[in-house]
Amino acid sequence: MAITCYIIRNLFVLNIIIVPLSAFPIRFPFPFQPFDGIEESFSQSPPPPPQVSYGNEEQPFIQPPPPPPSQVDPPKDRLKLQEGFHSRSCPNAEQIVANQVALIVKTNPGAIAAFIRLQFHDCFVGGCDASILLDQVPTGDNVEKSSRSNGELLKGADLIDDIKEKLEQECPGIVSCADTLAFAAAESMVLGGLPRQPKLGGRRDGLVSLASNAEHYLPSPAWSMDRMLRLFKTKRFNEEDLVVLLGAHSVGSAHCAFFSNRLYNYYKSGKPDPTLTQDVIDELRQKCKAPGTQEVRENPPVNFDETPTILDNLFFKNLVERKKALLASDQLLIVDNRTSPIVEKMAKDPNLFSSKFAQAMTRLASLGVLTGNEGEIRTTCRSTNQ
Ligand code: HEM
Repeated sequence: MAITCYIIRNLFVLNIIIVPLSAFPIRFPFPFQPFDGIEESFSQSPPPPPQVSYGNEEQPFIQPPPPPPSQVDPPKDRLKLQEGFHSRSCPNAEQIVANQVALIVKTNPGAIAAFIRLQFHDCFVGGCDASILLDQVPTGDNVEKSSRSNGELLKGADLIDDIKEKLEQECPGIVSCADTLAFAAAESMVLGGLPRQPKLGGRRDGLVSLASNAEHYLPSPAWSMDRMLRLFKTKRFNEEDLVVLLGAHSVGSAHCAFFSNRLYNYYKSGKPDPTLTQDVIDELRQKCKAPGTQEVRENPPVNFDETPTILDNLFFKNLVERKKALLASDQLLIVDNRTSPIVEKMAKDPNLFSSKFAQAMTRLASLGVLTGNEGEIRTTCRSTNQ
């Protein structure tokens, strides 16, 4: 039995078995532990700054360091995009996306979080070029979607297909998948309670998608604050931007596998994470049974805060008032004195968070965009045109 579980677990970790992305919420068919590598890779407490992302004991996945500062993204990306870009070629484009997102969210409120996360995972890896949506590329490379940082936990790509289909019906070959995703994420933010912002368009779709790039540029909850800041600075985001963008964890949920080590046996100390209060440990233990127990199969994802479809500042309030965050990387926001004053500011002023988050997301949605004759306008978001 143990051997069978071991083999099946590795099939999942290596993405040989793919769980359909459409399931909301996803339940692992067995106690899949994306965090195994972390538990296994560190020696006794106190833990060193974590450097290993989720992998497994046999294949510990060591993340390469972020690129040197010379590779910082160019600063003026968003100037390449335009408000009302599709106003002549597809005048209803923004409205079509808005209507579709509203329809989707009505039956699936979790889509608000899914679209926002998709946007982050697209833009941080080679720019906002919808490379995250590709199922395959002509070179046969493993695509971003199949990486361990995305894999079966990435939600919402199938929902973008539905929106793109509507756009293709109205104006074939005009609106890129990258714009479709950016508009869907922006609309989700409005449905999550943020003021509507002008939509910048003109992105084109990329031809490249590499799983190894996703492993390189997507952060893990086990990263140190230094490492997160280094990565975000390569995208021209400073300390405040990092805090504000992590406010996205005001919507959606995380699977216990990403944080239950903090509740039971933090870095093999036999004890919970010392930065958590007993009150929070007790609350979260109700939701996440200990790894290795029978009940762990039943752990559904846990909402980041009490209002998982509203982009409010409760995530920050919980950090300040209860020192509560699910992910270790989020907890660092209140522990580290470079970021804790910013967290306090966001917790005090919901309007400040709303406006800063909207601004930061506009910058995020403009990273490394392809425009003009670069890339292509895909017909379907799952594959390149040729
Ligand atoms: C250090 C940076 C970050 C780390 C380590 C991180 C990690 C994670 C993890 C582990 C989850 C849970 C996935 C699951 O269990 O299904 C998650 C969910 C999420 N993340 Fe992040 N994240 C980071 C930054 C961001 C940023 C910058 C954004 C957006 C701007 C974002 C948006 C989201 C959203 C909306 C969800 C909920 C998804 C859903 O419920 O469908 N994250 N993140």
